[in-house]
Amino acid sequence: MKPKIIAGVVIALVVVSAAYAQFAKPEKAIKYRKSVMFLIAQHFGRMGAMVKGSTPYEKAAFAKNAALVDTFSGLPWEAFMTPGTDKGDTTMSASVFQKQAKFKAAARSFEADTAKLAEMAKSGNFDAAKAQFGKVAKNCKSCHTDFRVK
Ligand code: HEC
Repeated sequence: MKPKIIAGVVIALVVVSAAYAQFAKPEKAIKYRKSVMFLIAQHFGRMGAMVKGSTPYEKAAFAKNAALVDTFSGLPWEAFMTPGTDKGDTTMSASVFQKQAKFKAAARSFEADTAKLAEMAKSGNFDAAKAQFGKVAKNCKSCHTDFRVK
């Protein structure tokens, strides 16, 4: 009988974790994704200051910010898929729901480019990292153009 009990517990845990993957209310999903975007912007901006030269380049700080943006890059997308979240305290366009494949592709491209940036930042090749920073910035801009309400 014991294996059955274990199987039951495993199934229950899977069900619970699946429920946790969603948000209790649409407002929570909006808050979550905006919070992640805020963090991405903060750490991206710190790199941006070094790219522009308004803050001196420091390898360790640049690499840390790049690693953080890379980590955050995978977090917000599920919260964008939550039904009903094109309304409320949000600037997300309903086109996210209408063009899900395009939105997900934009998210994957962003993740790939932030991963590359993190690698380059770690290696300390600032010129390569600067060019890659520009590529990541294009991801932000194009996704915002397509999927935010102005
Ligand atoms: C794949 C799409 C996508 C990418 C890539 C993306 N964003 Fe966003 N971002 C959005 C959407 C959609 C919103 C609107 C969220 C909302 O209001 O619910 C948003 C909102 C924001 C906000 C406003 C958050 C708030 O508090 O209202 C900031 C700041 C931001 N993004 C910065 C960035 C930066 C910087 C990058 C690139 C380093 C980036 N985003 C990349 C889709 C994207």
